[in-house]
Amino acid sequence: MCGIIGIIGKAPVTPLLVDALKRLEYRGYDSSGVATLVNGHIDRRRAEGKLVNLEARLASEPLPGTIGIGHTRWATHGKPSERNAHPIATDRVAVVHNGIIENFQELKGELVAEGRHFDSDTDTEVVAQLITSYLEKQMSPEQAMGKAMERLRGAFALAILFSGRHDILMGARRGSSLAVGYGDGEMYVGTDALALAPFTRQVSYLEDDDWVVLRADGCTVYQGGFEVKREVRQSGISGAMIGKGNHRHFMLKEIHEQPAVIGDTLQTYLDPATRSVTLPVLPFDWNKVSRITMTACGTAYYACMVAKYWFEGLARLSVEVEVASELRYREPPLPEGGVCIAVSQSGETVDTLAAIRYAKANKQTILSVVNVPESAIARESHLVLPTLAGPEISVASTKATTTQLTVLLCLAIAAGRARGTLSPEAEARLALALIELPAHVNQALNMEEEYRRVAETVLAEARDVLYLGRGSSFPIALEGALKLKEISYIHAEGYAAGEMKHGPIALIDETVPVVVVAPTDAIFDKTASNFEQAKARGGKLVLLSDAAGVGRLGNQAVVSLTLPTVDPVVAPILYTVPVQLLAYYTAVAKGTDVDQPRNLAKSVTVE
Ligand code: G6P
Repeated sequence: MCGIIGIIGKAPVTPLLVDALKRLEYRGYDSSGVATLVNGHIDRRRAEGKLVNLEARLASEPLPGTIGIGHTRWATHGKPSERNAHPIATDRVAVVHNGIIENFQELKGELVAEGRHFDSDTDTEVVAQLITSYLEKQMSPEQAMGKAMERLRGAFALAILFSGRHDILMGARRGSSLAVGYGDGEMYVGTDALALAPFTRQVSYLEDDDWVVLRADGCTVYQGGFEVKREVRQSGISGAMIGKGNHRHFMLKEIHEQPAVIGDTLQTYLDPATRSVTLPVLPFDWNKVSRITMTACGTAYYACMVAKYWFEGLARLSVEVEVASELRYREPPLPEGGVCIAVSQSGETVDTLAAIRYAKANKQTILSVVNVPESAIARESHLVLPTLAGPEISVASTKATTTQLTVLLCLAIAAGRARGTLSPEAEARLALALIELPAHVNQALNMEEEYRRVAETVLAEARDVLYLGRGSSFPIALEGALKLKEISYIHAEGYAAGEMKHGPIALIDETVPVVVVAPTDAIFDKTASNFEQAKARGGKLVLLSDAAGVGRLGNQAVVSLTLPTVDPVVAPILYTVPVQLLAYYTAVAKGTDVDQPRNLAKSVTVE
């Protein structure tokens, strides 16, 4: 969702602000803008739509200035338009904001009663008007900011520019992330280390309720009325890591990184010499865990669904999986001695964060699997198991998912070992299957021409597509359907193959492609029956299986894709790759915006 950048520097900042906004595009947005100080006055350029529109505005009306803020906006309050685009400004301040000011109606009422006039439909404008009102009451910018922090409710990250003050820029955070970057005679504030990467790798992360005053040579962080120190760290992200390389889209690049990042992740969680998993000391005893509650959103939720099969099958543990937006408000009873596992690429997703807060308040041990170790979810967990996927830019999650699955399988194996439900031989067999997984994923990637052909000849023309799978392939069917919807805008449904006859079978005719995810496993025969039922209704069957499965059913499919034969336990990780590529090539065939699909955001920081 919204991306923030602020720079107090020596050189003209507009090109740097726009450059940073490009690195924040991945979060999803529908308008953008920048503001600088020109001879002490706030000047802005804003545009609806993509950044090219803002660049065109800047080309015709350049914006000088050595201090400024910039924003990519994903609309929440007020439609995407130039009028509602940030920076939102008064004559005294310009503000960029990520998140929601929950008490904006109440504050707006008070400010309008004071005689203030609002120019936009945004909740953000109350921040600008509130601070302006304090400044007009002769408060200093620092006093005004401190006082505004007391009044604002909700989740937000802010960057604020003050007219007449070339020497200071402010930032604030509650909930949404905000990083401070330290340069040479220049200081930065931005949504994440990615935005700041080419400027500096020296960053500190603000904590909830912090606000910061940046000057060209340093900064002061406050919490309440007190000065606090936040550790400055070397970010692991370099400018080189966030390019597309030779790939046409970030999504394709990230799909192709999977063998490497699964390998990196395995290096942390598995010892190839002993063929056993190696996890950090856990803050609980597997034999005393009463129940596991898993929670996440989007693709990460499907990773949790796969893990449920693993925890139940390998460790005989009882697992509940629930989307975070439901869990947080359903407020289920959580048994004492329970463990809550949260899975999130960004570590910022507001519903997942709220769900772990609920679980924590209910005495659950919180274990999170996240890709951004500095994130709020990571910070609020008792233990973090990081995925080593590296920065994921494309909105549709790919390499984060397969690394999440890799970590979760290692965790389930550790649980099985500790609980005596998994023999050392079985552990060694699974460890070997994992060690071989990057090579198998590579083989699956080498079939790219086949995915492209299926996408172009079968999927791209369809109005509806059905994905079917059983057991741990069921969540992969859901993931395949989600990916197709997200990036190609074709309606798709994932279904448990055995449930098809209770509804979706009514949809099947010769216009509906049915993608069947069917590695040969203990329930292959059951999936084969469902396959035949779909075939009998004239469905265009696309079979994803291994040599044995294709040998058995291939002659009934319009097309079969033969994937490497793997241990059925690791199959969901491998089969995630072909469903990603089918969606990718379908989107390319349809000409959609693959990396930034319409209406979607990468990090969902609002409810
Ligand atoms: C958004 C993204 C999805 C992602 C989901 C959860 O909807 O578009 O790709 O799966 O959020 O995000 P998280 O960062 O918590 O994994």
